[in-house]
Amino acid sequence: MEVTLAAYAGVCSGVARALKTVYGEIANEKNENKKLYTFGPLIHNKEVVRDLQSKGVEILNDISENQDGTIILRSHGVPPIVYEKLENWNINYIDCTCKDVKKIHHIAAENKKEGRQIIIIGSKTHPEVMGISGFAGDDAIIIEDESELGLISFDSSKKYALVVQTTFVFDKFEKILEVIKKLGLELKIYDTICNATTKRQQAAEELSKKVDYMIVVGDKSSSNTAKLYEICKRNCTNSVLIETIKDLQLNIFNKGVKIGITAGASTPPDIIKEAFITMS
Ligand code: F3S
Repeated sequence: MEVTLAAYAGVCSGVARALKTVYGEIANEKNENKKLYTFGPLIHNKEVVRDLQSKGVEILNDISENQDGTIILRSHGVPPIVYEKLENWNINYIDCTCKDVKKIHHIAAENKKEGRQIIIIGSKTHPEVMGISGFAGDDAIIIEDESELGLISFDSSKKYALVVQTTFVFDKFEKILEVIKKLGLELKIYDTICNATTKRQQAAEELSKKVDYMIVVGDKSSSNTAKLYEICKRNCTNSVLIETIKDLQLNIFNKGVKIGITAGASTPPDIIKEAFITMS
């Protein structure tokens, strides 16, 4: 059996920074006997979230005025209202918003100020997109699929600016762009898919064309893992999505087959290593 790990797989720099920060703070807060929270689950990975909870890190879904301890803002970012609450109520927080997401916040806010309506390509329910739409204003248009374009009435007298969720599938983005460009709008386009996502998706695309089986490791709730699976499945019908190697039925693989492995941005190295070693 030949097992190959994709050239780019697993945790990106933004997620790595958030993980390093929270594990560093666990030690600090313990020393000072203070509470530590993440605003929403730190990453889309149940194993990691469970581990953090076992170390006393609580998940907050809303912020109240009398909040104690320190709140970690995850790499997905938050809308401005969250910063306002934290600042106005003098709440201690550490901002782990990824620099690539911050860049989108800035683009959205600046273009909004210039009078442009913001178009966000991404998933409406993803925390990153919810954060961006906070900076983009109430009239922001969110599009996830090209089929939605026919339902939106664009105004040719208006000016628009378009950004895209950092983990969006590049091919899908291009298809949506192709249709939007034909509308002849006064439109500024910002390709804000992050470099780590592009490299991870390209590596998965290449590897999935060469193997008999493709294993995508990541949490089922992680949108970038789901997108990797979508890419792999297109090229290799024997693609499976697993959260850990325990989810995989090992006796389905014949001797001599080629197996590729990739992993989402929130899959920790230990889980990938375990999958690779077991398959090898
Ligand atoms: Fe940042 Fe891209 Fe990771 S936006 S959090 S480097 S997937």
